[in-house]
Amino acid sequence: MIITIDGPAGSGKSTLARNLAARLGLSFLDTGAMYRAVTLVALEHDIDPMDADACARLAEQLELSFDAQGRILIDGRPGEPLIRSETVTKAVSPVSAHPAVRRALVRSQRAEAERRGGLVAEGRDMGTVVFPNAAHKFFLTASPRVRAQRRCRELNAPARLAEIQADIELRDHLDSSRKDSPLSCAADAVRIDTDTLNPEQVVEALLAHIRKSARG
Ligand code: DC
Repeated sequence: MIITIDGPAGSGKSTLARNLAARLGLSFLDTGAMYRAVTLVALEHDIDPMDADACARLAEQLELSFDAQGRILIDGRPGEPLIRSETVTKAVSPVSAHPAVRRALVRSQRAEAERRGGLVAEGRDMGTVVFPNAAHKFFLTASPRVRAQRRCRELNAPARLAEIQADIELRDHLDSSRKDSPLSCAADAVRIDTDTLNPEQVVEALLAHIRKSARG
């Protein structure tokens, strides 16, 4: 079974995908980590994030795999925590906008689903482009202010709220306005606003939808 979870940065997709996969006995696929991995290696090799050909070559050549906890390995070495650094976060939108980068990573994402026989996949285009026939599709939303507050708590940096919110809004804009596979809600996805829900309540909301549609 394939379940897709899409939504903007900081909407709680990663935690949710992990929790939901654990509850259903499925594995999960963090596709943002794949775009971050390509971006990290590009920066390490002084490749300009705007250089489509060089970024695409990397996306095709890198061997991306996952450890037992679902954390990305780049040619066998752990991508965490470097893929979450602010330098990578700032450069990942332009890298992920190159169609040839997307083609290479979408191919690997579909191959992972095939190899594992199903999964919970989270990203921006899982329900719209990568797995259009998924059994269940969800689209998470939350206001930029709430997403920035969550990120400030993670970073333990309450004073940076305005700056972090501005970064989130810029990334939303770049991810939603790019030509190839922009962030958007699939017509058949269930939209869930997480502003007032804690992670456990979000999982329960999704499980309720899944059970309801299984009953027909
Ligand atoms: O979910 P995240 O913040 O780790 O994603 C990092 C970036 O990767 C995000 O700014 C957009 C891009 N991305 C994408 O274009 N398509 C996906 N399926 C997942 C992420």
